[in-house]
Amino acid sequence: MHFNVKRHNKGDMVSSFATLILLLQFVFPAYSSDCTISINNDLSEPQPLVLNPRGGDGIYAFYLPDNGDIITFAENQLGKLVLDGTLTRSDIGQARCVSGSFFIGEQTLPFSAITCSRIPYHIARYTGGTCTSGHREIEVGFQLSNRFLRHLRICYDSNLQSVIYSEYNLTKTIAGFQAGYPRPSWLQGSGFYTVGALNVNKLYTRAQQRITINALLGLDAFDFKYVAERGDLYLARGHLAAKADFIYGAQHRLTFYFVNAAPQWQIFNGQNWKYLEDNIRKFASRNNVDLIIYTGTHGVATLPHATSGADTELYLYANGTTRGIPIPRLFWKVFYEPKTRTGAAFIGVNNPYIMDPAKDIICTDICDRYDWLTWKADNVTLGYCYCCTLDEFSKTVTTLPSVQISQFAQACVPSILLIFVIQFYVHSRLIRCQLYSLS
Ligand SMILES: *[C@@H]1O[C@H](CO)[C@@H](O)[C@H](O)[C@H]1NC(C)=O
Ligand SMILES: *[C@@H]1O[C@H](CO)[C@@H](O)[C@H](O)[C@H]1NC(C)=O
Ligand SMILES: *[C@@H]1O[C@H](CO)[C@@H](O)[C@H](O)[C@H]1NC(C)=O
Repeated sequence: MHFNVKRHNKGDMVSSFATLILLLQFVFPAYSSDCTISINNDLSEPQPLVLNPRGGDGIYAFYLPDNGDIITFAENQLGKLVLDGTLTRSDIGQARCVSGSFFIGEQTLPFSAITCSRIPYHIARYTGGTCTSGHREIEVGFQLSNRFLRHLRICYDSNLQSVIYSEYNLTKTIAGFQAGYPRPSWLQGSGFYTVGALNVNKLYTRAQQRITINALLGLDAFDFKYVAERGDLYLARGHLAAKADFIYGAQHRLTFYFVNAAPQWQIFNGQNWKYLEDNIRKFASRNNVDLIIYTGTHGVATLPHATSGADTELYLYANGTTRGIPIPRLFWKVFYEPKTRTGAAFIGVNNPYIMDPAKDIICTDICDRYDWLTWKADNVTLGYCYCCTLDEFSKTVTTLPSVQISQFAQACVPSILLIFVIQFYVHSRLIRCQLYSLS
């Protein structure tokens, strides 16, 4: 008898074995000895920057959650932690995931026990470049000893002391953001504001904004007609890039520069605008898309002068004929999805006192394309809102930069090769804990 048996050579056996292992990993994807970091439960203050050396620029330099707010590291996976550092000195330690904890230095610790001694150093600074209409470009980010992790790119009108827009990346993993991170103090930065004897923080106080606006409108300094004594009719520091649009609390701090804010009526800020921010985060996570967001301002809000009745522009700073920090007429947010090259503009009218928003409408409303919007769009008190195509929007808001065509081709990689690539990345990824001093 003769059976024609095709014998496997050694290479076939090895690849079959590798395939078996790969299949098993799909069946049992998580090991009990994995290390996990919960963004909401395992970060202690001052929290380290959890960087992925294989990550990209800005927010993509960080480890992003892989499931909800969880980041998973495999057993034995090596990490690097910067345990102490300033602009000129950094102390990088190594950590290894061992049976659910991180082996760091001489000890094995849960991630929650790893803290930095200082808040990571961050800064807002002019880049020297210009943006739309010759305005000045500002960047906000973490300055590490060897690189700058930019989070915001801001276009700033330094004459009027007015933010044109703030540009940033919103990750599809944003549902895992650190909720309830304490609000730090706002930062004026250096070289952005010239407001005489005052500072920006003071200009935003209820008492001072009432004095400034009442003077512009010919009202008595203590008149509560527009800036109310209490409640939500006052001008808040309206974030352009929202703090919750970034994963880590350490990143939230970067949004608290005044160059990332504009005076926004609190009743609008806390309602329709807040709903929009929530809706866009949900859009990114539900559709699993990374977005590029531009949030900006357009025009100057007006109210009638008490005696002449003339429409009068509103500013937080007015000294003689000098004006600064305008109260925007419109707030807008453009989301752009590079993969599909699609996007839209969402607009809100920043004036709860107008009777008829007609002259603040700059396009044909297309909000019916976005059934996920939960704002009360036609309520003027809560901020009258509508949506524009990017095409129509950019005809009026000429300060919006033309959105770029995606640079990333969708390569079709044979799936087995892709699995090996993923394995390689997973087993070699590192954590870096960055720590920088503020002083
Ligand atoms: C957003 O991410 C892309 C890709 O990493 C980067 O090129 C771009 O500069 C980022 N945008 C900002 C405002 O940092
Ligand atoms: C107004 O401007 C003058 C001249 O620049 C300056 O000396 C003064 O401090 C300013 N006043 C306030 C309240 O900012
Ligand atoms: C706008 O919303 C406020 C607060 O929810 C409500 O009191 C008011 O009646 C609304 N206005 C209109 C015109 O629906």
